[in-house]
Amino acid sequence: MVGLGTRGKKWARILHDEPQCQTVGYVDLDESNLEWAQTMYEANPKACYKEMDQALKELEPDFVVLATPPMDRYRDVVTVFERGAHLLSEKPLSLDFDEGVRMVKAAEEAKLGFAVGLNFRFQHCVLKAREILRNRVIGAPRFAGYSYWRNRDGYSPSLNKFPLTMRQPMLYEQTIHHIDEIRFVYDAEVERVSCRCSNPPWSMYRDDATVTAVFDMTAGLQVNYFGTWSGQTKLDQFLWRTDCDDGALFQYELFSDLRIIRGSESNEMIKIPLPEQEQLVDDARVMLSQMVEQLLAGNLNPEPTAIDHLKTFGIIAACEESNNTGQPVEMEEFFDRRQVPAHWR
Ligand SMILES: NC(=O)c1ccc[n+]([C@@H]2O[C@H](COP(=O)([O-])OP(=O)(O)OC[C@H]3O[C@@H](n4cnc5c(N)ncnc54)[C@H](O)[C@@H]3O)[C@@H](O)[C@H]2O)c1
Repeated sequence: MVGLGTRGKKWARILHDEPQCQTVGYVDLDESNLEWAQTMYEANPKACYKEMDQALKELEPDFVVLATPPMDRYRDVVTVFERGAHLLSEKPLSLDFDEGVRMVKAAEEAKLGFAVGLNFRFQHCVLKAREILRNRVIGAPRFAGYSYWRNRDGYSPSLNKFPLTMRQPMLYEQTIHHIDEIRFVYDAEVERVSCRCSNPPWSMYRDDATVTAVFDMTAGLQVNYFGTWSGQTKLDQFLWRTDCDDGALFQYELFSDLRIIRGSESNEMIKIPLPEQEQLVDDARVMLSQMVEQLLAGNLNPEPTAIDHLKTFGIIAACEESNNTGQPVEMEEFFDRRQVPAHWR
């Protein structure tokens, strides 16, 4: 388990509880986080390291979970594959799309499994929305609005600090989950991206905390996206609405509250019952368990695959490019230009 910050501590717990896994070692630059692992999970001090490569050499794990910040991830990802371990990396793989492509190549050449932690795909509301749309319960989706308003206190002790100073924090840390949900729920690909990023005067983030984008997707679906970490006031709001041929689907809360209206003449909203989930933990539990099953069965592309993640990552990078140039980006042209091999598209 590499990186024992905000997310890594959750991963340590999830790994500890997963019967198919046994955590053989912990790595973090910060001694206090290693002490935490010793207190919480009786980690042997000899299995706690400040340096990942030394840990990999001495412990020879089958599988690594990497939950460090994305800025320096490239070197660590390549090292994991050089040391012969399968990898689950947190998102985003990097802030540089070309590095992401090289990481996936490294996994392919080493013949090792490589997955990315898109746990939002395993939320009940997301899985249910996907099922409803796939089964055409209210027909095909035609257009949608995804809006996420949050006043995120980046100085909160319970949150990571690197987004305060990183490049495009909203896009690479948060919107990346939303775009992945959009692709997954609609089972559709983004063909064209137009994006504008901005930062309000009151933002605590050094770079843009607000993203506005339009995604033209396959089958003529159009998605209007708005996301912010710098909403004015403490009132957070979320709405994801999808209008279909024969009704509409609504998600009213970030991780729950799915509702449906059937037919074009009705305004009667029916709430879809969903089981409770501990946010960002129970979804990751299912993701990990299925991933390990796939690895144990010899599948070197366990879901959510890093190859698939290049599509979501590419859209984020294209959003940044569109914001910089003021022009829309055609995804096919983008992937050509960034030399993404045809068999990964
Ligand atoms: N999937 C999700 O739901 C979710 C939620 C939160 C964060 N994340 C992702 O998890 C990753 C980590 O985020 P976080 O919130 O835990 O950040 P964090 O800053 O709280 O923790 C990062 C930890 O990594 C350690 N670290 C940094 N470089 C290291 C290195 N080279 N070797 C060993 N340890 C190192 C730091 O000491 C720190 O403890 C990010 O990529 C973030 O986007 C994902």
